[in-house]
Amino acid sequence: MFKQISIIGLGYIGLPTAAILAQQGKMVYGMDINAHWIERIQQGDIPNIEPDLAEMVKSAVQSGRLLTSTQAQPADAFVIAVPTPINTDLSPDLSYLEQAVKYIAPLLQVGNLVLVESTVPVGTTEKVAEWLKMERPDLVFPDLLNPQTVADIHIAYCPERVLPSQMLRELVQNDRIIGGLTPACAKSAVDFYRIFVQGQCIATQARLAEMCKLTENSFRDVNIAFANELSLICDQLDLDVWELIRLANHHPRVNILQPSAGVGGHCIAVDPWFIVAQSPAQAKLIRCAREVNDHKPEWVIEKAKSTIAEAIMAKNCRPDEISVACLGLAFKPDVDDLRESPALKIVSTLSQWHQGEFLLVEPHIQHLPSDLAKRAKLVDFHTALQADVLILLVGHKLFRDFTDTAAFSLLSQKSCFDACGIWTTKWQSH
Ligand SMILES: NC(=O)c1ccc[n+]([C@@H]2O[C@H](COP(=O)([O-])OP(=O)(O)OC[C@H]3O[C@@H](n4cnc5c(N)ncnc54)[C@H](O)[C@@H]3O)[C@@H](O)[C@H]2O)c1
Repeated sequence: MFKQISIIGLGYIGLPTAAILAQQGKMVYGMDINAHWIERIQQGDIPNIEPDLAEMVKSAVQSGRLLTSTQAQPADAFVIAVPTPINTDLSPDLSYLEQAVKYIAPLLQVGNLVLVESTVPVGTTEKVAEWLKMERPDLVFPDLLNPQTVADIHIAYCPERVLPSQMLRELVQNDRIIGGLTPACAKSAVDFYRIFVQGQCIATQARLAEMCKLTENSFRDVNIAFANELSLICDQLDLDVWELIRLANHHPRVNILQPSAGVGGHCIAVDPWFIVAQSPAQAKLIRCAREVNDHKPEWVIEKAKSTIAEAIMAKNCRPDEISVACLGLAFKPDVDDLRESPALKIVSTLSQWHQGEFLLVEPHIQHLPSDLAKRAKLVDFHTALQADVLILLVGHKLFRDFTDTAAFSLLSQKSCFDACGIWTTKWQSH
C-alpha cells in the first residue's frame, strides 16, 4: 500500500515530508512549479533551512527514491503542501491549492488517496472534492450525504504543526489530527501517516481538522496579543512589563507569554484571518488579537525612533553622526525565515528614516534582501555592539546567551531599546 507517493509543493513542509517518506523506502515524486528550485534540489544545492534536511534530501535523491520535477506524476497517494496566503482584503487565497488540484486531477486512478496539508479555511477539503469531481466526472468521489458510498478516491485533510528548526523530529513524533471526508477516507489517511508518524494518528471529520489547525494558531495569536497589549499598557504607566509578567506568572494558573516586536511568519499571522473571514460577527477576539499584534511593529518603530533621538540629544551631534544597530531580522527566534517578519518591517522603515550608519545582525542569513542591502550593512554581533544605538528585535539564542559582563556595563551606557525583554532582564542583574 502507498508504494508511490506524489508530493505537490516542495517548500518548508513538502520537502522534509518527501525526504522522510523516501527514507522509509517509498518511491517519492516531488513536484513544484518553481523550476529553479527543482533544479537546485536535483543538484543537492539545498539551503540550510532545517538541521540535517540538506543531507537527508541529498541522500534521498542519490538513492533514486526521490525524483523531482515540475510535472506531477501518477502515484498511490498525493500530498498537497502549497501556500495558502491571504489576499490584500484579508480573505483566504486558495488559488495555489486549486491549481495543485488541477495538476493531479488527470493523474488520479481508482484507489488513490488525496491529502491536503496546506492550512485552509473550514470546508476547503469539501471544495477540493468538488474541484476534482468537475475535472474527473468518470470517478466516484466521497459523498458526505451518503458516507457509506464506496468512493474511487479517498480525500482527507491533515494539518501540519511542526516547529521550524525541529521539523524532522516533529514530523515523526507529533500527534496528527487526520480529518477524512468520510470515515473510510480518514482510515486510509491514518494508514498513510502510520508510514512515518510515531505520534498518535487521531481520526476525525475534515471540517473539525481544518478548524483545529486554525484554532491552534489563533490560540497562540490571542495569547501573544495579550502579552503585547500589556507591554503597551505598562509603557504608558511606566511599569516594567517583564517584571510584571514574571510576578504574575507566580500564580499557579497564570502563564503569560512574553511580549515581542510583533507576530510574523505565514502561519500565526495569517491563519486567524481564515476564521475571521468565515465568521466575522463571531470572531471578535480573534480579529482584535490580530490587530493588536499587527500594530506592535508600528509601536516598536516609534520607540526606536525616540531612542535614536535621545542618543542624538545626549551626544549633542548631527543625526548622521549616530550609528544604529538592529539585532534580528527573522520572524521569530532561531530561524532563518524572514517571511512576514515584524523585525524586517521595522528595520525597513528605520533604515529609510535614519540618516547615519545602519547596521544589522541576523546570524541565520548570509545576505540581506537586496532593497535593504542598499541602506544597511550586515555585520556580526560584536561589530554591532560598537554602535551608538542598539535595537533588539528578535530573541535569538546568540543574543539570549550574551553574558559578557564587561560588554554589559558598556551597553548600559548606550541607548538601547529591547523589544524582547531579554537584555532588560539581564541588565537588572548586573
Ligand atoms: N512552514 C511551516 O512551518 C508550516 C507549518 C504548518 C502549516 N504550514 C502550511 O503548509 C502550507 C505550505 O507551507 P510551506 O511553508 O511549505 O510553504 P512554502 O512557500 O515554503 O512552499 C510551498 C511550495 O509550493 C510551491 N507551489 C506553489 N504553488 C504550487 C502549485 N500550484 N503546485 C505545485 N507547487 C506549488 C512553491 O513553489 C513552494 O516551493 C501552507 O498552507 C502553510 O500555511 C506551514
